[in-house]
Amino acid sequence: MPKDTRNPAAAPPAGGSGAAPAPHLPAALPISVNGKPYFHEGDPAMPLLWFLRDSLRLTGSKYGCDNGQCGACNVLLDGKAVRACSLPMSAAANHAVTTIEGIGATNLHPVQQAWIEADAIQCGYCQSGQIIAAIDLLKRKPRPAEDDIAAIGNVCRCGSQPQIRRAIARAAELLQGGKK
Ligand code: FES
Ligand code: FES
Repeated sequence: MPKDTRNPAAAPPAGGSGAAPAPHLPAALPISVNGKPYFHEGDPAMPLLWFLRDSLRLTGSKYGCDNGQCGACNVLLDGKAVRACSLPMSAAANHAVTTIEGIGATNLHPVQQAWIEADAIQCGYCQSGQIIAAIDLLKRKPRPAEDDIAAIGNVCRCGSQPQIRRAIARAAELLQGGKK
């Protein structure tokens, strides 16, 4: 007898005759955002950035180039900076995401404090992504060289790169227990 490969979800209900078949829905994808559990029930190919901004209304992560270049959409995925515009929900599922809203939610993060001291913000559009990138760098390299800081590569159209670099150097001092 040939194997029945029909989708059980599409089978008519028992006893029913003309009912429309149930649509095939993708499985809900679990994800942790800023320490809270969520499920994504839509297209698994949807970028993480849309889920954060449109579903959760966490709009601190920005939409810039949409092709992984500018870094405005940076978030931490299990502690590492990733481009949320380029990461599908299927890849983000079962991981822990931290957005800028989850950084310093109770106390100012040293990187945020350094940003204030260095007066690094102009329009602000790129800054959440810059701060996320700095946190990632300082975790990997607590005493970054100037080249390490310059290599971050996030775009700032306001020309704040010199202040941002100073802020990252200051954040490294603060994280090392430097004078606050
Ligand atoms: S919007 Fe994601 S890298 Fe530019
Ligand atoms: S502060 Fe305006 S784009 Fe960076």
